[in-house]
Parts: sequence; C-alpha cells; structure tokens
Amino acid sequence: MLLQGNFSLPFRSPLSLRSPTVHHHPRRFSFAAAQHQYAISDEDLESRGFTLRRTIEDLNLDHLNSVFVAVGFPKRDTDKIKVALEHTDSLLWVEYEKTKRPVAFARATGDGVFNAIIWDVVVDPTFQGIGLGKAVIERVVEELLQKGITNIALYSEPRVLGFYRPLGFVSDPEGIRGMVYSRKKKK
Ligand SMILES: CC(C)(COP(=O)(O)OP(=O)(O)OC[C@H]1O[C@@H](n2cnc3c(N)ncnc32)[C@H](O)[C@@H]1OP(=O)(O)O)[C@@H](O)C(=O)NCCC(=O)NCCS
Repeated sequence: MLLQGNFSLPFRSPLSLRSPTVHHHPRRFSFAAAQHQYAISDEDLESRGFTLRRTIEDLNLDHLNSVFVAVGFPKRDTDKIKVALEHTDSLLWVEYEKTKRPVAFARATGDGVFNAIIWDVVVDPTFQGIGLGKAVIERVVEELLQKGITNIALYSEPRVLGFYRPLGFVSDPEGIRGMVYSRKKKK
C-alpha cells in the first residue's frame, strides 16, 4: 500500500470503550486534543503507562522477537534483527512501563529523501485494540513527512487493509501495482 500523496492525518473519532480481552488489559484511551493531531497524545499514552521510544537502546530484541512470533511472524535470528534495526531510518516502539517490555513496534527504511517503506508493524496481542497500532503508524508517518519523505509504502496482509486505509494508505494507487522478487532460502 502506498500513502496517498496528499496526506492528511485522519479525523479522530472519540475512541469507544471496548471489552478488554484480558483482566489486566489497559483501558481504552479517551479522546484528547492531541499534539500533532494524533489520535492519542504522547501524554495520554504516558498516563496509561506507555512510553514512546525511538532508539534501540533499551530495546530487548528477544522480547521484540517474542512479539513478532506472538502475532504470527516467523521467528527470526535476533542478531539479524539487530542488523536490520541498525539499517533502519525511523523506528518507534512502545514500552509498557509495568513490564519494561515492548508492546508495539514499527520501523521504516528508505533513501532518506524520497521514499520509505514501513516494516514490522506489530502490537502485542494483549495490547491490541486500544489504539497503539494507530499511535505508532501516525508517528512514524509524521516523522517521515517531517523529513520531506512523501512516498511511503508498506506491505499489508489482506486482513489488515482496513487498519491502514483510515491512516491514509491506498492499495494500487492510480493502478500502480507492487511487484516483489522473493526467493525462498534453501534450508
Ligand atoms: C494490525 C495491528 C498492528 C493493529 O494494531 P492495534 O493496536 O490492534 O490497532 P488500533 O487499536 O490502533 O486500531 C486503530 C483502528 O484500526 C482498526 N483496526 C485495527 N485492526 C484492524 C483490522 N485488522 N482491520 C480493520 N480495522 C482494524 C481499529 O478498529 C481502530 O479503529 P478506530 O480508530 O475507528 O477505533 C495489530 O492488530 C497487529 O499487530 N496485528 C498482527 C500483526 C499484523 O498483522 N501486522 C501488520 C502486518 S501487514
């Protein structure tokens, strides 16, 4: 999916309360007039025990890998994840203060001026549905836009298209189709 050229952050509706999936599930965020018009402000996140982090300092890569695995991504070599993150331009993760563990993550690679691709968008299943995914994507996109990067792409599984669309991403913009060369590694 590609971010629409004429990007504007989507209108935020008040976040409705949803039934938590676990007993200790953090409450859904209430709407607040947010800095940068984010659906959830940094302050709201902090008040719920979530800290936004933009470097890999303090990021436990085994814990991050566990989140990847928990959402169904293949388990990857932690050393390779480290290399990938070192070659990443924009990175954002959300730390849950109580456990000090990453509960949401996204990163973008690119050429630094024109193009970027967003990768590895995940929210720990325990923390899904409370706005963290949107919070992370909004901020990664904003950071890229601040750098003047307006061509922002990502791969979306079909079941997640509805998550990205309200955030400004469109499939096959103007008929342009993505193509991928992929070769499975021999075992
Ligand atoms: C997809 C994912 C990142 C969404 O994160 P999340 O924190 O659960 O989503 P949010 O709570 O921020 O949801 C934001 C909005 O998107 C909607 N939404 C969330 N997941 C959705 C989905 N799969 N399809 C359609 N809409 C979705 C929410 O209802 C919410 O709508 P609202 O703003 O009107 O209330 C998360 O579910 C996840 O990690 N999934 C597994 C990994 C994955 O599929 N990653 C993407 C790879 S392409």
